[in-house]
Amino acid sequence: MQPYLIAPSILSADFARLGEDVNEVLAAGADVVHFDVMDNHYVPNLTIGPMVCQALRNYGITAPIDVHLMVEPVDSLVPQFAKAGASIITFHPEASKHIDRTLQLIKDHGCQAGLVFNPATPLSYLDYVLDKVDVVLLMSVNPGFGGQKFIPATLDKLAAVRQLIDHSGLPIRLEIDGGVTVANIGEIAAAGADMFVAGSAIFNSPDYAATIAQMRQQLAA
Ligand code: DX5
Ligand code: ZN
Repeated sequence: MQPYLIAPSILSADFARLGEDVNEVLAAGADVVHFDVMDNHYVPNLTIGPMVCQALRNYGITAPIDVHLMVEPVDSLVPQFAKAGASIITFHPEASKHIDRTLQLIKDHGCQAGLVFNPATPLSYLDYVLDKVDVVLLMSVNPGFGGQKFIPATLDKLAAVRQLIDHSGLPIRLEIDGGVTVANIGEIAAAGADMFVAGSAIFNSPDYAATIAQMRQQLAA
């Protein structure tokens, strides 16, 4: 297992002062910036694109930016996000006609690549591309909105992917996204996740540093 990473989702940040808020959450101990891209097509919500990623880089954010693409089609945004400073780019396999090609496109642009699985998306999409994947991201809510409740069936799915990764011997990250809180992060880690997206649990808390510290305490327990 690799060291645990905490990745606040800026979907719940203050967009009117985004750079400042992202700096605050990083100073509070976050490892990675989780950047949710929604197109009002693949998901019923609309958020931010490459310009905002570039703006964060221009503002001086140097932490890894984990771009979660909830868009269809996928490929045209890959070069744009790579150029705008993305570190990791993940996409939903059913939103790409050529999954292997999209993974390769991401890697060719110098980013780490990942597949995202909705709660009811089968893991079989991993069958022939595991060696091309740097991150497996399991959604523990249906994508589109922050502040939803963790779907418990994801725990078994996490355990299944953990087994798959360990069996492969590949250094693949297992990321979880949706409804992660101080109260459930411990059991999510026990099921096999090593990268934790948390939006509302961190950004809606009065003290980011205290919340992240509580999360790390649960992870260490
Ligand atoms: C949902 C997004 C998540 C979301 C998580 O579609 O992918 O990253 O921001 O928010 P919380 O942690 O509030 O469930
Ligand atoms: Zn996300």
